[in-house]
Amino acid sequence: MKILIENIKELVLVEDTQRAYVAGSEMASLSTINNAFLLIDKGKISEYGRMEELFMPTEENKRLKKVDASGKMVFPSFCDSHTHLVYAGSREIEYVDKIKGLSYEEIAKRGGGILNSAKRLHNTSETELIAQALERLEEITWLGTGAVEIKSGYGLTTEDELKMLRVIRKLKELSPLTIKSTFLGAHAVPLEFKGRQGDYVERVINEMIPLVASEELADFIDVFCDKGFFTIEDTERILMAGMKYGLRPKIHANELDYSGGIEVGVKYNALSVDHLEYTGEKQIEVLRGSETMPTVLPGAAFFLGMVHAPVRKMIDAGLPVALASDFNPGSSPSGNMQLILSMGCIQYRMTPEEAIHATTLNSAYAMGVSEEMGSIAIGKKANVFITKPIPSIEFLPYAFGSNKVDTVILNGKIL
Ligand code: NIG
Ligand code: FE
Repeated sequence: MKILIENIKELVLVEDTQRAYVAGSEMASLSTINNAFLLIDKGKISEYGRMEELFMPTEENKRLKKVDASGKMVFPSFCDSHTHLVYAGSREIEYVDKIKGLSYEEIAKRGGGILNSAKRLHNTSETELIAQALERLEEITWLGTGAVEIKSGYGLTTEDELKMLRVIRKLKELSPLTIKSTFLGAHAVPLEFKGRQGDYVERVINEMIPLVASEELADFIDVFCDKGFFTIEDTERILMAGMKYGLRPKIHANELDYSGGIEVGVKYNALSVDHLEYTGEKQIEVLRGSETMPTVLPGAAFFLGMVHAPVRKMIDAGLPVALASDFNPGSSPSGNMQLILSMGCIQYRMTPEEAIHATTLNSAYAMGVSEEMGSIAIGKKANVFITKPIPSIEFLPYAFGSNKVDTVILNGKIL
């Protein structure tokens, strides 16, 4: 059935001409329509415009499902291009240890960190992992997310990495959200390989990647290219191995240091480089003219009390920027994109217009779905949300911490 949303106070991020992403000063100008309608047909956006332009033949009018959005706004759903939301159990004890002043190394020594999640994941069944992940997906759906990327990386053995990716494949079937999966075997070096990082990299390249590819379990490949984790050389070899099977890179870069991750990402035409706390003039220059989306994860920087990525400088230098949640049990136990939107404005000094582009169209690009999502454009998937009555667009990031989403529509269906 067709859905007509009418009397929309403001229809946000309308694109008559579709773009893959928005960069630099363009990010500050957001195209909207006041007093608008939006027509949805066969799961897609089929028409939009001003209410006075709406013309419906009587016959068709009768067959419509009408939604009145007086006082409310319609946004394209958020696209969350970086998460680790398949995990077993939470790690709040580490969080308390962190508050008490323990360093990341000390926490890891007590059995915490990524390896802690790997141990838990190993001891948890696929059914239980699916159940936990579905709850998280349900939560983010009602917070306005319509597409989400999910990484492996808490397996760290061939068997458990495949298990994680199969869980993600099952989620693609079960959830109305659009889901992309990323193989992140190189997330940490497991204990059995302590002192033999090279051997683990070999395992990733020679055993894991071919199996992941043969079962078509991943859309992308990721490496944690940073100080204390994987080197530039490791990263290059892993990315090349993945690219042989058509897996485009999306990498963790420059979170802990000037790791060279940004440079290596651009060199291998990564779809995105993510985190970016350590980004200087040189890295900004490298990103300019590339097809790689700089992606910032405000939740992790907030939760770990890190320095902030120089988002203002990036945008002012003409770069696009995407924002994502990094939803994971260790450094960002939240997938709330409305909060990410607020953080983008408050902590990174993005204007609401810039932050809205960063959490929708640009993050859609960063997960390879900007041709089908991320804006209100004819032919795009009808993944949108209707807000509660709100006074202005700016209110969305301003009123941080409360849920402003009223109605969720995914694949043209009202949930
Ligand atoms: O993106 N930076 C690396 N990995 C995750 C954290 C994973 C964890 O601590 O469990 C991140 O922040
Ligand atoms: Fe991450």
